[in-house]
Amino acid sequence: MVSSRPRRVVLDTDPGIDDALAILLALASPEIELAGLSVVHGNCPLSDAVANALAVLQLAGHPHLPVAAGCVRPLLREPVTARKTHGGRGLGYASLPASPVVPVAEHGVDMIIREILAAPGDVTLVAVGPLTNVALALRKAPQLATAVHECIIMGGALHDQGNTTPLAEFNIYADPHAAQIVLSSGMPITIMPWDITKQVRVTEEQVQALRAHGGPVPQFIADATRFYMDFHREHFGWAGCAINDPAALALVWWPELAELRDLYVTVETVSELTMGKTIGDFRGLTGQPANVRYVARFDSAAFIERFLARMAALSRLIR
Ligand code: BDR
Ligand code: CA
Repeated sequence: MVSSRPRRVVLDTDPGIDDALAILLALASPEIELAGLSVVHGNCPLSDAVANALAVLQLAGHPHLPVAAGCVRPLLREPVTARKTHGGRGLGYASLPASPVVPVAEHGVDMIIREILAAPGDVTLVAVGPLTNVALALRKAPQLATAVHECIIMGGALHDQGNTTPLAEFNIYADPHAAQIVLSSGMPITIMPWDITKQVRVTEEQVQALRAHGGPVPQFIADATRFYMDFHREHFGWAGCAINDPAALALVWWPELAELRDLYVTVETVSELTMGKTIGDFRGLTGQPANVRYVARFDSAAFIERFLARMAALSRLIR
């Protein structure tokens, strides 16, 4: 039997409830080796996002995995946060003990560059927050575009309405200029858009079933997602909550869940009304070559089942 090495992954993140779930999934998945977390402003201010990243790592038994603080604000626009979605400190109703571990001295942008250039062709960058860190990394080291194995992005609303403005999805809206730099960089990019992830929902019943395993991980997931589910019910009228970021991360090792299509995508950075809209040239009207592959279909039910199994396995390990 041929055994393949785990794929090394840098996760660029703004924890964030679904970001926290992505961190837990990464740590529960032997198919990948998590190199570190580069943290970015987004769902909450950078200082809270860094504290949340460290606290989640401690919860999951990996307190010393490197966490590098990255950009504190977008490239050009004023910062926006998502307190209504993720709570005042970013993790809903969960209150994890603060980790005694501090972030590494390295800037998040430099962590991305160092990791990717250390093993050209081998490292996957998964970006599940605003793209400020990734854009600056590309500006500082443009060779990343060919050195990265792949860059997977959770972001954008392609066919669909946005979740932050009528047209824009949060991660792209929060730094549209950075997003445009990344999309035009020539990196091999896979986009997991909100069109798809809004259907990838965990229900209250599933979380309650997970809680039966006992221990701090299911307790955290229940406390964090209770807030997230309240938000989804109030704002979208949906039962359950969309776990966007874990679904994007899982493309690294479960690509069979997704149907990918090539597309040329740009970002609106001028009009205030449509700021951050991702514009997909589905009919090839611009004549531009595709710059991304996007997830056109995704087996949400299979993913949720696998995600819950991984969370149950992690729960058994962490008592
Ligand atoms: C994205 O925005 C954030 O609020 C979530 O963490 C996710 O990355 C969904 O639009
Ligand atoms: Ca996120």
